[in-house]
Amino acid sequence: MRSERGLASRRGVIGAVAGAAAALPAGIARAAGNPQNQPPHLPEWGRSLGPGVIEETYGTRSRHETAVRRYVPWLTPDRVSSVSFTPLAEMHGIITPSGLHFERHHGGVPDIDPADYRLMIHGMVERPLIFTLEDLKRMPQVSRIHFIECPANGGMEWRGAQMSGVQFTHGMLSCSEWTGVPLKLLLAQAGLRPGASWLLAEGGDASHMTRSVPLAKALDDAIIAYGQNGEAVRPQQGYPVRLVLPGYEGNMWVKWLRRIELGDRPWFSRWETRTYTDLMPDGLSRQFTFVNEVNSVITYPCPEKPLQGRPGFVEISGLAWSGAGRITRVDVSVDGGDNWRTAELQDPVLPKALTRFRIPWEWREGQSAFLQSRAMDETGRVQPSITALRAARGTESIYHKNSIHTWLVERDGTVVNVQIDA
Ligand code: CO
Repeated sequence: MRSERGLASRRGVIGAVAGAAAALPAGIARAAGNPQNQPPHLPEWGRSLGPGVIEETYGTRSRHETAVRRYVPWLTPDRVSSVSFTPLAEMHGIITPSGLHFERHHGGVPDIDPADYRLMIHGMVERPLIFTLEDLKRMPQVSRIHFIECPANGGMEWRGAQMSGVQFTHGMLSCSEWTGVPLKLLLAQAGLRPGASWLLAEGGDASHMTRSVPLAKALDDAIIAYGQNGEAVRPQQGYPVRLVLPGYEGNMWVKWLRRIELGDRPWFSRWETRTYTDLMPDGLSRQFTFVNEVNSVITYPCPEKPLQGRPGFVEISGLAWSGAGRITRVDVSVDGGDNWRTAELQDPVLPKALTRFRIPWEWREGQSAFLQSRAMDETGRVQPSITALRAARGTESIYHKNSIHTWLVERDGTVVNVQIDA
């Protein structure tokens, strides 16, 4: 095992924090607030009328809620071609609020008038077709809950732990209820010509993102989606229409979908030959690695949600997901993988959707711990250790890093991103 930056032995990491001062901030002081608004007093907001329904025609969250998407300045060259991250530590359940969905654009967000929107289906079909948005909405509809994950999620950590929170180690991950028409219905209407086995999906934005998709996927569970979490897909997510490919890497879920071309081979677009390939240690690349493999991360506690000032009962909670199907089990360790306990999976447990897991833990004040989660899916795949993943894939790729993640809980309750050689 070669030594990598940030890859420390358990002994080494423990040694590094042994001398840390056990300073406990007064968490209760921050929550103290105004006693006049607390029992037994009648709070001020209960003594006068608030704004009525007339004043707010489209709802917003409480002004006291401040969770936001963030971006990493050095990660992408400019703010047009950029990425923002979902604040996973702030999320409840499995659905990502549309306003906190992660973003990845290659040419900024286009402003598309739905009246001008068209979807073209052509190539190896009997009848080339052009659909308006209204045409799509008149067809039989499905709504399904699926996660979407950028294949570069965690990609900054192949060589060592370097990001300071779960928002940046795993936040290119969101989960929505997507509504639209199954792609196979559109293809049936167009009529596939013999030999058609691939399709090309192209975005209508200035970057013209193009990805080749196996026809089998299109005939399985692909959705032409115009709805997200009960309303229209947001502009940042492809308004008015995006391709939804459950379990497949996020860049293939082409946004602002403009056309679908049928063919008998992949297109090898520049997105497929230069960008979304996985560079291996021998200099060759893995191409067409579509499925996001089984993965999980603990979202509480985490660097953004430390344990300082809160000794005693802790409900460890996190998210698990697999592009291959349902999550069947998540094990949690508090000692860096020496011992594991099986967590409870919270309903609903859906295929290719985020799954929330929970497990109780007693944190003793002054106790350091290495928290890990290890997910399994219905195909039998098990989330690998970072050591095993590096042995198989090296450290040259930035894509499809799904290894077991470690949070170090320091003696004072601070939570730090580390990698341990296990
Ligand atoms: Co890939």
